[in-house]
Amino acid sequence: MGCQRIRRIGVLTSGGDAPGMNAALRGVTRKGIALGYEVVGVEHGFQGLLDGAFRVLSLRAVGGILQRGGTILFSARCEEFRTPEGQARALARLRQESIDALVIIGGNGSFAGALALHQQGFPVVGIPATIDDDVPFTEHAIGFDTAVNTAVWAIDRIRDTATSHERVFVIQVMGRDSGHLAVAVGLAVGAESVVIPEFHEPIEVICERVRRGRARGKKHDLVVIAEGAGDAYHLAQQIKEQTGMETRVTVLGHIQRGGSPTARDRILASRLAAAAVEAIDEGVCGVMVGSGGDGVRLTPLEQVVSERRLVDRDMWELAHVLAI
Ligand code: F6P
Repeated sequence: MGCQRIRRIGVLTSGGDAPGMNAALRGVTRKGIALGYEVVGVEHGFQGLLDGAFRVLSLRAVGGILQRGGTILFSARCEEFRTPEGQARALARLRQESIDALVIIGGNGSFAGALALHQQGFPVVGIPATIDDDVPFTEHAIGFDTAVNTAVWAIDRIRDTATSHERVFVIQVMGRDSGHLAVAVGLAVGAESVVIPEFHEPIEVICERVRRGRARGKKHDLVVIAEGAGDAYHLAQQIKEQTGMETRVTVLGHIQRGGSPTARDRILASRLAAAAVEAIDEGVCGVMVGSGGDGVRLTPLEQVVSERRLVDRDMWELAHVLAI
Protein backbone atom coordinates (compact mmCIF):
# COMPACT_ATOMS: atom_id res chain seq x y z
CA MET A 1 0.00 0.00 0.00
CA GLY A 2 3.03 2.35 0.23
CA CYS A 3 3.85 5.09 -2.28
CA GLN A 4 7.07 7.01 -2.97
CA ARG A 5 7.77 10.76 -2.55
CA ILE A 6 4.90 12.66 -4.19
CA ARG A 7 4.94 16.25 -5.50
CA ARG A 8 2.28 16.39 -8.22
CA ILE A 9 -1.10 14.76 -7.73
CA GLY A 10 -3.39 14.05 -10.68
CA VAL A 11 -7.16 13.78 -10.31
CA LEU A 12 -9.84 12.50 -12.68
CA THR A 13 -13.55 11.65 -12.73
CA SER A 14 -14.59 8.50 -14.56
CA GLY A 15 -17.70 6.49 -15.47
CA GLY A 16 -21.23 7.84 -15.08
CA ASP A 17 -21.11 11.30 -13.48
CA ALA A 18 -22.58 11.76 -10.01
CA PRO A 19 -23.66 14.91 -8.12
CA GLY A 20 -20.87 15.78 -5.71
CA MET A 21 -18.00 14.92 -8.08
CA ASN A 22 -17.22 18.65 -8.31
CA ALA A 23 -17.22 18.95 -4.53
CA ALA A 24 -14.71 16.08 -4.48
CA LEU A 25 -12.53 17.80 -7.10
CA ARG A 26 -12.56 20.98 -5.02
CA GLY A 27 -11.66 18.96 -1.91
CA VAL A 28 -8.74 17.14 -3.56
CA THR A 29 -7.39 20.35 -5.08
CA ARG A 30 -7.62 22.51 -1.98
CA LYS A 31 -6.42 19.87 0.47
CA GLY A 32 -3.60 19.03 -1.92
CA ILE A 33 -2.50 22.66 -2.25
CA ALA A 34 -2.83 23.13 1.52
CA LEU A 35 -0.34 20.28 1.99
CA GLY A 36 2.09 21.74 -0.55
CA TYR A 37 1.28 19.66 -3.65
CA GLU A 38 0.53 20.77 -7.17
CA VAL A 39 -2.77 19.32 -8.37
CA VAL A 40 -3.36 18.46 -12.02
CA GLY A 41 -6.81 17.70 -13.42
CA VAL A 42 -7.15 15.05 -16.13
CA GLU A 43 -10.10 15.70 -18.44
CA HIS A 44 -12.42 12.98 -19.83
CA GLY A 45 -11.45 10.28 -17.32
CA PHE A 46 -8.99 7.58 -18.42
CA GLN A 47 -9.37 8.77 -22.01
CA GLY A 48 -7.67 12.02 -20.97
CA LEU A 49 -4.69 10.06 -19.66
CA LEU A 50 -4.25 8.59 -23.14
CA ASP A 51 -4.76 11.92 -24.90
CA GLY A 52 -2.68 13.99 -22.48
CA ALA A 53 -5.63 16.20 -21.48
CA PHE A 54 -4.03 17.68 -18.36
CA ARG A 55 -4.55 21.06 -16.74
CA VAL A 56 -3.23 22.45 -13.48
CA LEU A 57 -6.01 23.11 -10.96
CA SER A 58 -5.49 26.29 -8.95
CA LEU A 59 -7.42 27.27 -5.83
CA ARG A 60 -9.58 29.55 -7.98
CA ALA A 61 -10.13 26.95 -10.73
CA VAL A 62 -12.24 24.96 -8.27
CA GLY A 63 -14.09 28.01 -6.88
CA GLY A 64 -17.87 28.11 -7.29
CA ILE A 65 -18.22 24.40 -8.12
CA LEU A 66 -19.11 22.94 -4.70
CA GLN A 67 -22.82 23.27 -5.44
CA ARG A 68 -22.70 22.29 -9.13
CA GLY A 69 -23.80 18.91 -10.50
CA GLY A 70 -21.80 17.05 -13.15
CA THR A 71 -18.01 17.29 -13.29
CA ILE A 72 -15.91 20.19 -14.55
CA LEU A 73 -13.30 17.65 -15.71
CA PHE A 74 -15.87 15.77 -17.83
CA SER A 75 -16.25 12.02 -17.59
CA ALA A 76 -16.08 9.08 -19.96
CA ARG A 77 -15.92 5.31 -20.22
CA CYS A 78 -12.73 4.30 -22.03
CA GLU A 79 -12.42 0.92 -23.77
CA GLU A 80 -8.79 1.44 -24.78
CA PHE A 81 -7.70 1.89 -21.19
CA ARG A 82 -8.85 -1.68 -20.45
CA THR A 83 -6.07 -3.06 -22.67
CA PRO A 84 -2.43 -3.51 -21.51
CA GLU A 85 -1.33 -1.26 -24.40
CA GLY A 86 -3.72 1.49 -23.28
CA GLN A 87 -2.49 1.27 -19.70
CA ALA A 88 1.15 1.43 -20.84
CA ARG A 89 0.38 4.60 -22.83
CA ALA A 90 -1.39 6.12 -19.82
CA LEU A 91 1.58 5.39 -17.55
CA ALA A 92 3.96 6.94 -20.06
CA ARG A 93 1.81 10.10 -20.20
CA LEU A 94 1.72 10.31 -16.40
CA ARG A 95 5.52 10.08 -16.20
CA GLN A 96 5.92 12.60 -18.99
CA GLU A 97 3.68 15.01 -17.04
CA SER A 98 5.65 14.31 -13.80
CA ILE A 99 2.48 13.19 -12.03
CA ASP A 100 3.45 11.04 -9.05
CA ALA A 101 0.04 9.88 -7.79
CA LEU A 102 -3.53 9.82 -9.07
CA VAL A 103 -6.88 10.25 -7.31
CA ILE A 104 -9.63 8.44 -9.23
CA ILE A 105 -13.23 9.47 -8.54
CA GLY A 106 -15.81 6.99 -9.85
CA GLY A 107 -17.50 3.63 -9.37
CA ASN A 108 -16.59 -0.05 -9.66
CA GLY A 109 -15.51 0.14 -13.31
CA SER A 110 -13.20 3.05 -12.54
CA PHE A 111 -11.64 1.17 -9.64
CA ALA A 112 -10.82 -1.77 -11.92
CA GLY A 113 -8.81 0.77 -13.95
CA ALA A 114 -7.29 2.20 -10.77
CA LEU A 115 -6.24 -1.28 -9.66
CA ALA A 116 -4.54 -1.93 -13.01
CA LEU A 117 -2.39 1.19 -12.53
CA HIS A 118 -1.64 0.29 -8.92
CA GLN A 119 -0.56 -3.23 -9.91
CA GLN A 120 1.89 -1.69 -12.34
CA GLY A 121 3.44 0.28 -9.50
CA PHE A 122 1.68 3.63 -9.95
CA PRO A 123 0.32 5.20 -6.72
CA VAL A 124 -3.49 5.61 -6.86
CA VAL A 125 -6.29 6.30 -4.39
CA GLY A 126 -9.99 5.84 -5.23
CA ILE A 127 -13.00 7.89 -4.10
CA PRO A 128 -16.42 6.21 -4.56
CA ALA A 129 -18.88 8.30 -6.58
CA THR A 130 -21.87 6.70 -8.30
CA ILE A 131 -25.61 7.10 -8.02
CA ASP A 132 -25.85 3.28 -8.19
CA ASP A 133 -24.33 3.05 -4.68
CA ASP A 134 -23.01 -0.41 -5.50
CA VAL A 135 -19.44 0.12 -4.26
CA PRO A 136 -18.59 -2.01 -1.21
CA PHE A 137 -16.63 -0.83 1.86
CA THR A 138 -18.30 2.54 2.09
CA GLU A 139 -21.55 3.44 3.76
CA HIS A 140 -22.55 5.30 0.62
CA ALA A 141 -21.01 6.60 -2.58
CA ILE A 142 -21.00 10.29 -3.50
CA GLY A 143 -24.10 11.16 -5.57
CA PHE A 144 -26.43 8.52 -4.18
CA ASP A 145 -28.17 10.80 -1.69
CA THR A 146 -28.83 13.43 -4.35
CA ALA A 147 -30.14 10.83 -6.82
CA VAL A 148 -32.49 9.41 -4.18
CA ASN A 149 -33.82 12.88 -3.41
CA THR A 150 -34.27 13.69 -7.11
CA ALA A 151 -36.20 10.48 -7.73
CA VAL A 152 -38.34 11.08 -4.63
CA TRP A 153 -39.10 14.62 -5.81
CA ALA A 154 -40.24 13.29 -9.18
CA ILE A 155 -42.27 10.38 -7.82
CA ASP A 156 -44.10 12.57 -5.29
CA ARG A 157 -45.46 14.40 -8.32
CA ILE A 158 -46.32 11.20 -10.13
CA ARG A 159 -48.19 10.11 -7.05
CA ASP A 160 -50.54 13.11 -7.29
CA THR A 161 -51.64 12.23 -10.79
CA ALA A 162 -51.70 8.49 -10.03
CA THR A 163 -54.20 9.17 -7.23
CA SER A 164 -56.35 11.48 -9.35
CA HIS A 165 -56.77 8.80 -12.01
CA GLU A 166 -56.58 5.81 -9.66
CA ARG A 167 -53.81 4.31 -11.77
CA VAL A 168 -50.93 1.95 -11.25
CA PHE A 169 -47.62 3.64 -12.09
CA VAL A 170 -44.52 1.62 -12.86
CA ILE A 171 -41.49 3.89 -12.37
CA GLN A 172 -38.08 2.81 -13.56
CA VAL A 173 -35.04 4.10 -11.69
CA MET A 174 -31.36 3.68 -12.58
CA GLY A 175 -28.88 1.42 -10.80
CA ARG A 176 -27.29 -0.59 -13.62
CA ASP A 177 -27.46 -4.19 -12.33
CA SER A 178 -28.13 -3.34 -8.69
CA GLY A 179 -31.19 -2.38 -6.67
CA HIS A 180 -29.72 -0.05 -4.02
CA LEU A 181 -31.23 3.08 -5.55
CA ALA A 182 -34.63 1.43 -6.12
CA VAL A 183 -34.89 0.19 -2.52
CA ALA A 184 -34.03 3.56 -0.97
CA VAL A 185 -36.38 5.40 -3.34
CA GLY A 186 -39.13 2.81 -2.86
CA LEU A 187 -39.00 3.13 0.90
CA ALA A 188 -38.93 6.93 0.73
CA VAL A 189 -41.96 7.25 -1.57
CA GLY A 190 -44.04 4.49 0.00
CA ALA A 191 -44.00 2.27 -3.10
CA GLU A 192 -46.35 -0.70 -2.99
CA SER A 193 -43.73 -2.90 -4.71
CA VAL A 194 -40.00 -2.53 -5.27
CA VAL A 195 -38.70 -4.75 -8.07
CA ILE A 196 -34.93 -5.31 -8.01
CA PRO A 197 -32.53 -7.79 -9.61
CA GLU A 198 -31.26 -9.15 -6.27
CA PHE A 199 -34.55 -10.60 -4.94
CA HIS A 200 -37.10 -12.19 -7.25
CA GLU A 201 -40.84 -12.00 -6.65
CA PRO A 202 -43.38 -13.69 -8.95
CA ILE A 203 -45.64 -11.28 -10.86
CA GLU A 204 -48.61 -12.80 -8.98
CA VAL A 205 -47.27 -11.38 -5.68
CA ILE A 206 -47.00 -7.87 -7.15
CA CYS A 207 -50.52 -8.09 -8.62
CA GLU A 208 -51.95 -9.43 -5.38
CA ARG A 209 -50.56 -6.35 -3.56
CA VAL A 210 -52.37 -4.15 -6.07
CA ARG A 211 -55.68 -6.02 -5.55
CA ARG A 212 -55.42 -6.03 -1.75
CA GLY A 213 -54.50 -2.35 -1.66
CA ARG A 214 -57.53 -1.44 -3.74
CA ALA A 215 -59.76 -3.63 -1.55
CA ARG A 216 -58.51 -1.62 1.44
CA GLY A 217 -59.35 1.65 -0.30
CA LYS A 218 -56.04 2.67 -1.89
CA LYS A 219 -56.40 5.07 -4.80
CA HIS A 220 -53.08 4.46 -6.53
CA ASP A 221 -50.15 2.06 -6.76
CA LEU A 222 -46.49 2.93 -7.18
CA VAL A 223 -44.26 0.14 -8.42
CA VAL A 224 -40.58 1.13 -8.43
CA ILE A 225 -38.46 -1.06 -10.69
CA ALA A 226 -34.67 -0.98 -10.94
CA GLU A 227 -33.45 -0.81 -14.54
CA GLY A 228 -31.55 -4.07 -14.05
CA ALA A 229 -34.66 -5.97 -12.97
CA GLY A 230 -36.38 -6.22 -16.36
CA ASP A 231 -38.59 -4.24 -18.70
CA ALA A 232 -40.85 -1.68 -17.01
CA TYR A 233 -43.29 -1.68 -19.97
CA HIS A 234 -43.62 -5.47 -19.87
CA LEU A 235 -44.25 -5.36 -16.13
CA ALA A 236 -46.94 -2.69 -16.57
CA GLN A 237 -48.62 -4.79 -19.27
CA GLN A 238 -48.63 -7.86 -17.04
CA ILE A 239 -50.15 -5.88 -14.14
CA LYS A 240 -52.83 -4.52 -16.45
CA GLU A 241 -53.69 -7.98 -17.78
CA GLN A 242 -53.79 -9.64 -14.36
CA THR A 243 -55.54 -6.90 -12.34
CA GLY A 244 -57.56 -5.02 -14.93
CA MET A 245 -56.15 -1.75 -13.57
CA GLU A 246 -55.04 1.10 -15.80
CA THR A 247 -51.23 1.37 -15.84
CA ARG A 248 -48.68 3.97 -16.92
CA VAL A 249 -44.88 3.87 -17.12
CA THR A 250 -42.35 6.60 -16.27
CA VAL A 251 -38.64 6.06 -16.92
CA LEU A 252 -36.84 8.64 -14.76
CA GLY A 253 -33.53 8.23 -16.65
CA HIS A 254 -30.65 10.68 -16.52
CA ILE A 255 -32.53 13.28 -14.49
CA GLN A 256 -31.30 11.17 -11.56
CA ARG A 257 -27.67 11.90 -12.43
CA GLY A 258 -27.89 15.69 -12.56
CA GLY A 259 -28.61 18.59 -10.25
CA SER A 260 -26.99 20.32 -7.34
CA PRO A 261 -25.64 17.85 -4.76
CA THR A 262 -27.41 17.63 -1.41
CA ALA A 263 -25.61 18.88 1.69
CA ARG A 264 -25.02 15.24 2.63
CA ASP A 265 -23.23 14.55 -0.67
CA ARG A 266 -21.18 17.75 -0.44
CA ILE A 267 -20.02 16.83 3.05
CA LEU A 268 -19.25 13.23 2.06
CA ALA A 269 -17.32 14.39 -1.03
CA SER A 270 -15.33 16.95 0.95
CA ARG A 271 -14.39 14.48 3.67
CA LEU A 272 -13.42 11.66 1.29
CA ALA A 273 -11.43 14.03 -0.92
CA ALA A 274 -9.41 15.30 2.03
CA ALA A 275 -8.87 11.72 3.25
CA ALA A 276 -7.62 10.66 -0.20
CA VAL A 277 -4.97 13.39 -0.21
CA GLU A 278 -4.02 12.59 3.40
CA ALA A 279 -3.57 8.93 2.45
CA ILE A 280 -1.20 9.92 -0.37
CA ASP A 281 0.61 12.31 1.98
CA GLU A 282 1.10 9.49 4.48
CA GLY A 283 2.40 7.17 1.75
CA VAL A 284 -0.68 4.93 1.61
CA CYS A 285 -1.77 4.02 -1.94
CA GLY A 286 -3.69 1.30 -3.79
CA VAL A 287 -6.71 1.95 -1.56
CA MET A 288 -10.22 3.36 -1.73
CA VAL A 289 -11.33 5.86 0.88
CA GLY A 290 -14.86 5.13 2.09
CA SER A 291 -17.18 6.41 4.78
CA GLY A 292 -17.92 4.10 7.66
CA GLY A 293 -18.94 4.17 11.29
CA ASP A 294 -17.63 7.38 12.77
CA GLY A 295 -15.12 8.32 10.10
CA VAL A 296 -13.23 7.37 6.98
CA ARG A 297 -11.88 3.91 6.27
CA LEU A 298 -9.30 2.72 3.76
CA THR A 299 -9.76 -0.56 1.86
CA PRO A 300 -7.27 -2.11 -0.58
CA LEU A 301 -8.53 -1.78 -4.17
CA GLU A 302 -8.09 -5.55 -4.71
CA GLN A 303 -10.75 -6.12 -2.08
CA VAL A 304 -13.04 -3.38 -3.38
CA VAL A 305 -13.14 -4.77 -6.93
CA SER A 306 -13.50 -8.40 -5.87
CA GLU A 307 -16.59 -7.90 -3.68
CA ARG A 308 -20.16 -6.78 -4.28
CA ARG A 309 -22.15 -4.47 -2.08
CA LEU A 310 -25.26 -6.35 -0.99
CA VAL A 311 -28.74 -4.86 -0.91
CA ASP A 312 -30.22 -4.62 2.57
CA ARG A 313 -32.98 -7.24 2.49
CA ASP A 314 -34.62 -5.88 5.66
CA MET A 315 -34.99 -2.48 4.04
CA TRP A 316 -36.53 -4.02 0.90
CA GLU A 317 -39.00 -6.02 3.01
CA LEU A 318 -39.81 -3.00 5.15
CA ALA A 319 -40.88 -1.04 2.08
CA HIS A 320 -43.52 -3.71 1.40
CA VAL A 321 -44.62 -4.03 5.03
CA LEU A 322 -45.18 -0.27 5.38
CA ALA A 323 -47.03 0.13 2.09
CA ILE A 324 -49.95 -2.15 3.06
O1 F6P B 1 -23.54 4.04 -13.33
C1 F6P B 1 -24.41 5.12 -13.38
C2 F6P B 1 -25.47 4.90 -14.44
O2 F6P B 1 -26.30 6.05 -14.44
C3 F6P B 1 -26.28 3.64 -14.31
O3 F6P B 1 -27.28 3.76 -13.33
C4 F6P B 1 -26.81 3.48 -15.71
O4 F6P B 1 -27.09 2.12 -15.98
C5 F6P B 1 -25.68 3.97 -16.54
O5 F6P B 1 -24.89 4.80 -15.72
C6 F6P B 1 -26.12 4.74 -17.76
O6 F6P B 1 -24.99 5.05 -18.49
P1 F6P B 1 -24.98 6.09 -19.71
O7 F6P B 1 -25.09 7.46 -19.14
O8 F6P B 1 -23.67 5.83 -20.36
O9 F6P B 1 -26.16 5.75 -20.55
